[in-house]
Amino acid sequence: MSEEFGEKLTPLPYRIALLPGDGIGPEVTAEAQRLLAAIARLDPTISFDVDVLAWNAEYYLEHGSMMPPDGLQILGEYDAVFLGAVGDKRVPDHIALRQLIFAIRQGFDQYVNLRPVRLLRGVPSPLVNKTVADIDMIFVRENSEGEYSGVGSIEYPGTPEEAALQTSVFTRKGVERVLHYAFQMAERLGRPLQSVSKGNALNYSGVLWDSIFDEVRAQYPDVAAENLLVDAAAFHMVRTPERFGVVVASNLFGDILTDLGAALAGGLGFAASANLCPTKEFPSMFEPVHGSAPDIAGRQMANPIATLWAVGMMLTDFGYPQWERRIIEAIESVLLEGAVATPDLGGTASTAEVTRAVIEALSATAAPAA
Ligand code: NAI
Ligand code: MG
Repeated sequence: MSEEFGEKLTPLPYRIALLPGDGIGPEVTAEAQRLLAAIARLDPTISFDVDVLAWNAEYYLEHGSMMPPDGLQILGEYDAVFLGAVGDKRVPDHIALRQLIFAIRQGFDQYVNLRPVRLLRGVPSPLVNKTVADIDMIFVRENSEGEYSGVGSIEYPGTPEEAALQTSVFTRKGVERVLHYAFQMAERLGRPLQSVSKGNALNYSGVLWDSIFDEVRAQYPDVAAENLLVDAAAFHMVRTPERFGVVVASNLFGDILTDLGAALAGGLGFAASANLCPTKEFPSMFEPVHGSAPDIAGRQMANPIATLWAVGMMLTDFGYPQWERRIIEAIESVLLEGAVATPDLGGTASTAEVTRAVIEALSATAAPAA
């Protein structure tokens, strides 16, 4: 419409709250910003407005909390949150994670944690005889309740009878919605679905999960679905990864199996993740799976690929899946070339050099049609 008046159509920018965090967090999120700037240059239909919020260990030491009291209200004004990683030896890990990451995931009802486990071209598989065609699954991890609900108590503290009670909370609503999300994804992608639980030992939570799985699966007759015990799932992921398509699991099981998945896909440097609020009532949050990696922080040694991929997942969520595909293709072309790689891949390139190579590869291909 504005073209009639001879104006240039300028799209509203996507507003992104960037939380660099601690350790290598600021190093990898700086690369996310470079990638976003490059995409805005390459695609005139997209632009970004990024605000950096320094809610990290330094903030905690100064203010006694990981974010301001109205932190969620502040973040609620954005289209998305992008997180590096938190973790610093001066702050207890459970405080840093609970006050920032869990507070955002739970406060914004980001009940789906999407984690692709996909071996990219150019990355050697740690599994003999397995290729990119075999290691290609996506985890839908329940992200709002389960074993990470934070419910429980310490009884008789400091006595010989001291006991910790950690209560898992599995609600019908919570299990149903994540199963529906996973089944819809499997249906859309034409992939098999695995539901992971432990109904033989967890006689309340596992049994409820499995019975709701049976109810939900009946509504998706076109999806080839199976129920796996978590221990068997770990075994099969290593022996027959090609069996897996869309894998839906509770919070703890999804967390553990996706670290196994990260190992299958080449390491934590390749594990990207999206915490989605599927109703869009609140912003979603995108992040690499890895932590703040204090052992390599401040030395430009961090592999930025997980973070660049997480940018791609954010763009898919904004409605630009073609950009996620292009980012992954650009990453693969750099990996296949092999000349520019961080030390975790046996290379000597810096975090910024890898990003630069990815952006060059991205710029070398034509911009997609709007
Ligand atoms: P980590 O993921 O930070 O590091 C594990 C190992 O992988 C380290 O040897 C590290 O150097 C390496 N690594 C991680 N990311 C890498 C990358 N991008 N490139 C190259 N190498 C990489 O896990 P760790 O050491 O158990 O935890 C360190 C801190 O991070 C802790 O304070 C922990 O609580 C926190 N953490 C935070 C998370 C988050 O913010 N989402 C997730 C996991 C841990
Ligand atoms: Mg984890």
